[in-house]
Amino acid sequence: AVVGTGGIDTATVMYGVFGDPVAHSKSPLMLNRAFEVAGINAAYAAFHIRPGTLQDAVRGIRALGFRGVNVTIPHKLEVIDYLDEIDEHARAIGAVNTIVNAEGKLKGYNTDGIGYVRSLKEEAGFDIQGKTVILLGAGGAARGIGYALAKEGASRIIVANRTVSKAEELASYLDGFTRSEGIGLDAVKSRIHEAELLVHTTKVGMHPKVEDIPIEPELIHPGLLVSDIVYNPLETRLLREAKARGASVHGGLGMFIYQGAYAFEYWTGQPAPVEAMRAVVQRSLSPE
Ligand code: ATR
Repeated sequence: AVVGTGGIDTATVMYGVFGDPVAHSKSPLMLNRAFEVAGINAAYAAFHIRPGTLQDAVRGIRALGFRGVNVTIPHKLEVIDYLDEIDEHARAIGAVNTIVNAEGKLKGYNTDGIGYVRSLKEEAGFDIQGKTVILLGAGGAARGIGYALAKEGASRIIVANRTVSKAEELASYLDGFTRSEGIGLDAVKSRIHEAELLVHTTKVGMHPKVEDIPIEPELIHPGLLVSDIVYNPLETRLLREAKARGASVHGGLGMFIYQGAYAFEYWTGQPAPVEAMRAVVQRSLSPE
C-alpha cells in the first residue's frame, strides 16, 4: 500500500537506507510517501548493515540495480571508500548520506548540511548571508551544518563545545570557508550577544531526556534565532525556553525532511513533495 502504482511489481525501482541501528528510521515512511505522491513506481526499505559488511552492501546496490540509497550512522564516513565518485561538497565534509546509482556508477552526496540551510530559509525565512552563528557541538552534524552555513555566506561561526579541543579543531576546518573560532560551553555566556543565529547540533534534550538543555536559558536574547536539530520531541526544552524569552525558533524536523527532499530530487530529477513528506513524518511523531 506504500507504492505509488499500488503494488511492487517487476518495474518497481528500489531504494533504501543503510544504517546500524536503522529500525527506528523515518526515512522509509517519508520516501515511500514521496514516491506515492509523485506517482513513481518505487519502493524504499530499511537495511540493517552491520560493521564490516558495508562494502558488500554497497556492491549489492550495483548488483541489484538499486537506484539510490541513504547512508546513516555509523557508515557515512567509511562508505566514501566504496563509491566511484564523490561530490565535491561531500568530499569536503568527509561524509556521504546519499548515493545515486547512475547505470552502475555510484556517486556519493551529502544532503544534510544543504538540507539544514534550505529548511532554515523555507521555514524560518532566515537569510544566512553576513550573519554570525554560534554552533553548539562539534561532531559530524555540526561539521556538515557548519560547512553549509559557511558556503551560504555566514560571516562568522563560533563553535562552542563541551570538549574545547574539538571546538577548535572544527573551527580550524571551517576557517577555510569563513571566519571561525572554537570556544568552550562556559564562554557562550560572553559571546552569545554577537550572534544572530544559534544552532544546537548535539543530542542533548532528545527523547527520553527531554528536560536536558545545552545552555543556560537565561543566555538567550530576543534578537536570536534559536535552531535545534533535535526533532524528537518536536519542541525541545531549548526551543520552549527561547520562545519564552522572545527569541525566534526553528525546529529540527525540517533538516530531516529537506535532506530527504534533496535525496529524492537527486534520484528522480523531480521536485520533492515536501509538505506531504513533512505531514507523514509529523503524524508519526506526534502523540495521538
Ligand atoms: P553527531 O554525528 O550526531 O554530531 P558526534 O559526532 O558523536 O555526533 O558528536 C556529538 C556532539 O555532541 C559532540 O559535540 C559532543 O561533545 P564532546 O565533543 O564534548 O563529546 C556533544 N555532546 C554529547 N553529549 C553531550 C552532553 N551531555 N553535553 C554537551 N555536549 C554533548
